[in-house]
Amino acid sequence: MSAEVIERAKEHFGRLVEQQLARVVRLKQAPDWLDFSGVEPLIVGIIGGDGIGPQIAKEARWLLETLLADEAASGKVELRDVEGLTIERRAEVGKAIPDEVLEDIKKCHVTLKGPTTTPRKGDPWPNIESANVAMRKELDLFANVRPVRIPAEGIDWVFFRENTEGAYALGPDGIDVTEDLAVDFCAVTSQGTERLIRLAFDYAKKNEIPKVTLVTKANVVKTTDGKFLDIGYAIAKEYPDIECDDWYIDIMTAKLVDPKRRADFRVMALPNLYGDILTDEAAEFQGGVGTAGSANIGKVYSMFEAIHGSAPRMVKEGRAQFADPSSMIRAGAMLLRHIGIADLADKLEMALDVCGQYEKRLVMTGRDTGCTGREFAEYIMETMQDKTLAERWGDYVKAVA
Ligand code: IPM
Ligand code: MG
Repeated sequence: MSAEVIERAKEHFGRLVEQQLARVVRLKQAPDWLDFSGVEPLIVGIIGGDGIGPQIAKEARWLLETLLADEAASGKVELRDVEGLTIERRAEVGKAIPDEVLEDIKKCHVTLKGPTTTPRKGDPWPNIESANVAMRKELDLFANVRPVRIPAEGIDWVFFRENTEGAYALGPDGIDVTEDLAVDFCAVTSQGTERLIRLAFDYAKKNEIPKVTLVTKANVVKTTDGKFLDIGYAIAKEYPDIECDDWYIDIMTAKLVDPKRRADFRVMALPNLYGDILTDEAAEFQGGVGTAGSANIGKVYSMFEAIHGSAPRMVKEGRAQFADPSSMIRAGAMLLRHIGIADLADKLEMALDVCGQYEKRLVMTGRDTGCTGREFAEYIMETMQDKTLAERWGDYVKAVA
């Protein structure tokens, strides 16, 4: 019995090692950054998702459609709806992303995606892999870039979360060795770590940010986190003008709450799972996960999304129209910057700050005690198009300085 159990576990591990070594080969051959400048039309896919996803995606789509009207008319940009990334369809075909949907997604250069439901043990849905995680792997979206900005408190954080490996690489591939023993796997590669950390340093360099902070638990998780840290410091040597320090995830989580210290952090690079957790905490200071957008960046494809889930309870209780679209609109701003329309992205972000953090002429409460998502999107649009936007934003920064 026990020899059989061990044999089965060895085989399981052997298969995973084979898969991961094959991934290293693919990483070594991966294409370099796709240059968007010659691409016309640039196709922007809009994916509704589940729960409140279609509702908040609709508001963000409306803003993008309005802002990109000239680019669409001249054939530079095309907005395209991608249907079928729903939990019902995924359950029907038993796949994290139905084949035809993946094909449609790959025809888009960039996508804006609403949250998708992630089934877990005990749900009415089959326990398929998260659509998010699958899409990040399929499209090789290796960097999850999550900014949190609170000018009122001097907070200007950008998290570079590794997005395709670590604890997520083999998330669905753990093994129940016996009834009593469960084992999961965490896989980290040199190539995967290097490209993520390099992107963080390049961002810091481009934006004249003097410091990059590596976040791990390398004192305990010695092999994979140890590798992340070693590679981080090796890359730091190539950027002599940028200071590099490192913190363990536990104390980092505490320091983000420390008002005397937290504004000192600027760019953080971290493995997948720590990045998942720390960015929810960070977003909470900005007004909650509903206000935070995120960019999933790959060298060929990119996908922009909210950092939160699909809030099925809001839909069940008939409150979907009161869901805050700010997260998706922030993701939309990141998308605009990514495709080279930085001036509109800047204005949209200023309007989000002014409306959500300062003037608050309309407030979202998630229910009928506040405004609807459409009303809030219109408020953002009006603010963005107001000639005095820069002054209003300046007032905000002055008022809180
Ligand atoms: C996120 C989400 C996802 C993740 C879930 C939905 C799988 O929490 O984007 O942070 O864990 O990455
Ligand atoms: Mg998360």
